Amino acid sequence: MQTKQQQLRQLLADRVMTARELTRELGISQPTLSRLINSMPHDIVVMGKGRATCYGLPQKGGQEQVRIPVYSIDAKGDVHKFGQLTPLLGGQYWWQSVSSAGELFHYLPWPLQDLLINGYSARAFAHRYGDQLKLSPRLTDWTEENMLFATSRRGEDRPGNLIIGDESLARYFDLVQDPLELIELNARTTEYPQLAARTLSREISPAQLSGEQPKFSACLNERGSPCQMLVKFSPAVDSKEARRYADLLICEHLALETIRMAGHNSARSRLVMTGNQTFLCIKRFDRRGAFGRLPVISLRALHARIQAPCDDWVSAAGRLLKEGLIRPDDAKKLCWLALFSDMIGNSNQHFGNISFLPHGKNTYLLAPAYGIRPTIYEPVAGEIPARLFTPPPLRKEAGTELADARQAAMLFWKSAAIDERISAGFRQICFENCEMLQMQEQGPKLHI
Ligand SMILES: Nc1ncnc2c1ncn2[C@@H]1O[C@H](COP(=O)(O)OP(=O)(O)O)[C@@H](O)[C@H]1O
Ligand SMILES: [Mg+2]
Repeated sequence: MQTKQQQLRQLLADRVMTARELTRELGISQPTLSRLINSMPHDIVVMGKGRATCYGLPQKGGQEQVRIPVYSIDAKGDVHKFGQLTPLLGGQYWWQSVSSAGELFHYLPWPLQDLLINGYSARAFAHRYGDQLKLSPRLTDWTEENMLFATSRRGEDRPGNLIIGDESLARYFDLVQDPLELIELNARTTEYPQLAARTLSREISPAQLSGEQPKFSACLNERGSPCQMLVKFSPAVDSKEARRYADLLICEHLALETIRMAGHNSARSRLVMTGNQTFLCIKRFDRRGAFGRLPVISLRALHARIQAPCDDWVSAAGRLLKEGLIRPDDAKKLCWLALFSDMIGNSNQHFGNISFLPHGKNTYLLAPAYGIRPTIYEPVAGEIPARLFTPPPLRKEAGTELADARQAAMLFWKSAAIDERISAGFRQICFENCEMLQMQEQGPKLHI
């Protein structure tokens, strides 16, 4: 015969329940339930207040793991309490931010989703810390729970301004004590190749950011002020594949410049070329000075907030505008970015490639554009694809931005076609793509 304690555990193993549900399922009165719960203080998590109180089982045994503190770092580098996360059995989470009463989620709460990085850096992160944290060194073996656990232990430098867990916070203070050495502008050509080599050999951690392009963090001395950068790099070897990656990094720089020239915000970047290697250095918009941080949230996390599917940027713009989360001018900019991306062969229009800056509690401003380059030309499994660019079909939903985005895309291809840092073969492709857009421009137009 199961005891009432065992029955209670069994009920809560699947999901959180209210007192009313539990008294009914267990066939006991409210006072008996209270006594039962009080007799298991370390086993049961009590959430919410009054009638909304509910009960669950923590994902991990042991008191210290149950409630994970979450901190925010401000623009000066000072730390503030941001909330508390309680992972529960059954895949639910109780999330209590300092400014709210607490909420039950059936998935990782959206404000924290961007802290779970993926891609190149996540694989290196798993390899570097798997052993120390008694996890597999292979990211493919990790569950979301493993990543959350690792982030609460080694997540001192995640995108945005949040830090999960006391151990990660302690490591943030270690970073403050022993910050990255400032790199002088004229030392970049010697420092960057070394940092790239150390990143690839996993001697140092890559920047704790998502994305597939290898990248490291650097802090530049910009006229006496520290400036935090993310630096993407091409392979140091001389091969067709390495050349293509270098060409695409140069294109990313040109695309960010073109976006800015068209009157939109984009991350500030610079190219550093040395030997066979190309470095794209991008100023971080979620960092200030040596230690300051600013909040950012990805389009993906915002979609988790409104529980909408991650489909395409144009639909996302309309949806967020309708929800009142973004302003009309930013919705237009996002449509513009989608069209521009279509027309420069940027197939990487996933929801991690757009971010927003929180502005008040319920509105968001579009963050500077980043990560935009003609990805259709990326090497696949070591091979250079002979993909022909075809101008995208006209999209009626974003029609008003079309002519402007096409002008900018033509400018982009043109600037790449004459940029002597790009290989002759790829410049020819850029030239042809520009011509194709010109032909489309001269064809039938959309007047709706
Ligand atoms: N300038 C920036 N400031 C702050 N965060 C950035 C910046 N650029 C990119 N990021 C963050 O880094 C992640 C990876 O950058 P991205 O340019 O998309 O790299 P990749 O080309 O590898 O996909 C993005 O998803 C975003 O979270
Ligand atoms: Mg990306």
